[in-house]
Amino acid sequence: GVDGHPDFMSKEIAEQPDVAARIVDRLAPHVLDGSLWADLALPRFDRVTVIGCGTSLNAGRMIGGALSSLGRVPVRTLVASEAADAVMEPRTLVLALSQSGETADLLNAIERLDLSRSSLVAITNNEHSTLARQADSVLTCDAGPEIGVAATKTFVAQVITGVAAALSALVASERMLRSDAVRHSDELRLMPELLAHAIAVSHEVLPSIVAGVLDEPGFLFLGQGTGVVLAAEGALKLKELSYRWAEHQPAGELKHGPLALVDRGTPVLVIDSGDPRIDRSIAEVDARGGRIVRIGGPGSTVPVVGLGRPAGPMAGARRWGPLEAVVPLQIFARDLALALGRDVDKPRNLAKSVTVE
Ligand code: F6R
Repeated sequence: GVDGHPDFMSKEIAEQPDVAARIVDRLAPHVLDGSLWADLALPRFDRVTVIGCGTSLNAGRMIGGALSSLGRVPVRTLVASEAADAVMEPRTLVLALSQSGETADLLNAIERLDLSRSSLVAITNNEHSTLARQADSVLTCDAGPEIGVAATKTFVAQVITGVAAALSALVASERMLRSDAVRHSDELRLMPELLAHAIAVSHEVLPSIVAGVLDEPGFLFLGQGTGVVLAAEGALKLKELSYRWAEHQPAGELKHGPLALVDRGTPVLVIDSGDPRIDRSIAEVDARGGRIVRIGGPGSTVPVVGLGRPAGPMAGARRWGPLEAVVPLQIFARDLALALGRDVDKPRNLAKSVTVE
């Protein structure tokens, strides 16, 4: 065991509220005056390109979602291994995300892209990494060492760090009203509590759900907005840990093809971020006998979203989350993998730091 945990992944999942609290305590006081961003001393930007691999790319997509939905900033996302031919426009802010800061696909992409008229900000858990050295500015995630191959607490750390920086940048460039920024920064401050609730609820309700799907060959994850990103992250965790097939889709795409996958008993995990249109997708799955695991607010199968936070006007303000929904996705993947006899800290075929292209 590791510090009373059966594996590193368990320990790293459990650490997430503390990691979030540490980051929020450090960064939140510098969000609303724009100084978190201003201190990076970067030129003004007109657009953002997010780049990374795997879970870091998903973290980048969450941050990109915050920048575009809250600040109307044009955001493009590049998969690092496919980025070589991307055209870089002037005054682009490049957000490069990597836990290790040593991922070859990302480092090579940065080398090949013409970044002469862009500024490069690294969001990494390793401030001494190659990526950090190449960047104009570095935002350190401060998650502590992550040993499990599957990224968990570093995802949460990257998103919170990046969203704090994004809010600060939007305030500094007057792309966001201060009153809105206050609400979103309050939301960030709630993250430790939300993550802790999500861990407790997940451990309570997921074991019996997982026990019922052990023989299922495939899993579908649905979401909307940044919920699609969380769906992607849930499917990635499930694939790498359990070795079962998983795919993610925007809920609205279901009827355009993937619905054909849904049969009696097919597990469909839905990230319900509060947009009522999700109900129609859920009804479509239900009508085919799919097994719906709804991760959302009160009354959901896994009621973790927004627990412990004031109801009412804040609900509409949450356009970049719900980050706490990643917790049941991590725990679902780990529980399933363990039940199938997998080594959750060292999944087959994978390495923690991928230093080959
Ligand atoms: C998934 C996972 C990988 C990494 C990816 C990028 O759990 O760990 O998808 O996120 O290999 O690694 P970094 O963040 O070190 O660049």
